[in-house]
Amino acid sequence: MAQHIDYVSTGVPGADTILNGGIYPGSAVLVSGPPGSGKSIFGMQFVYAGARDHGEGGLIVAIEETDRSLSEYAGSIGLEAWDSLVEKGAITMMTDDYFARTDLPGSLEGIMEVLGRTEARRMVIDPMNLFKYYFPQDVDRRRYLLKFIRILKRRGITSLIISEAMGVFPNMPLTEEMYMTDGNISLFLSRSGNNVERCFWVTKMRRQAFSMKIVPMGIGRGGIEVFPDAVPYSLGE
Ligand SMILES: Nc1ncnc2c1ncn2[C@@H]1O[C@H](COP(=O)(O)OP(=O)(O)OP(=O)(O)O)[C@@H](O)[C@H]1O
Ligand SMILES: [Mg+2]
Repeated sequence: MAQHIDYVSTGVPGADTILNGGIYPGSAVLVSGPPGSGKSIFGMQFVYAGARDHGEGGLIVAIEETDRSLSEYAGSIGLEAWDSLVEKGAITMMTDDYFARTDLPGSLEGIMEVLGRTEARRMVIDPMNLFKYYFPQDVDRRRYLLKFIRILKRRGITSLIISEAMGVFPNMPLTEEMYMTDGNISLFLSRSGNNVERCFWVTKMRRQAFSMKIVPMGIGRGGIEVFPDAVPYSLGE
């Protein structure tokens, strides 16, 4: 008999259709893209949907934000219950407010401590360059990332690891992190003439079937919406 799997809904309208229901539970998914492509918004929606709609606590680690700026960002895209979910403890934010008062290795342990205490089921690291500050040497950083992913997996936490893409579609270099994670989602901008459109592309998802199609997406009130049945005009034949 086929095993029933409760895929983890992304909370991003249309994205679960591409993913055949959502993300395989416990996966670590790399979300990469250039500046302004929607990575942070995708991460906020993922944590928000888990907390609001699925009773799953979430931890968002956003080192470049403060608690206040992150709350304001969530509010500005229409995630209206963000603050009340934070108050209830359903969403936990670890931002510069936290990291500014800890030493670096200690704050990694701090993440583990908060994960244990809050029983989070979803986690977002935005961006994963966090690890670069702690581990300037590539080999140390990769070792740590692997260890970190292993811990998340053991705890059954589904995570989004946000990464700044160092290239523009279709010339995006492959990075080791793409191999180390279970899934890769690419958000990018595509140009045709002087028009630029947002695109959503899942390139890898271990243990699950998904659509490999590049589809358009938009950002508006409520955050990102993916259009699974549409063809990006800039990429049409
Ligand atoms: N309230 C809003 N309404 C419509 N679009 C918005 C709104 N807020 C942000 N955006 C769009 O989202 C983009 C930023 O998205 P996001 O912060 O997720 O990008 P990012 O990929 O995380 O970028 P970076 O790598 O610079 O952090 C903005 O450039 C803007 O186009
Ligand atoms: Mg961002």
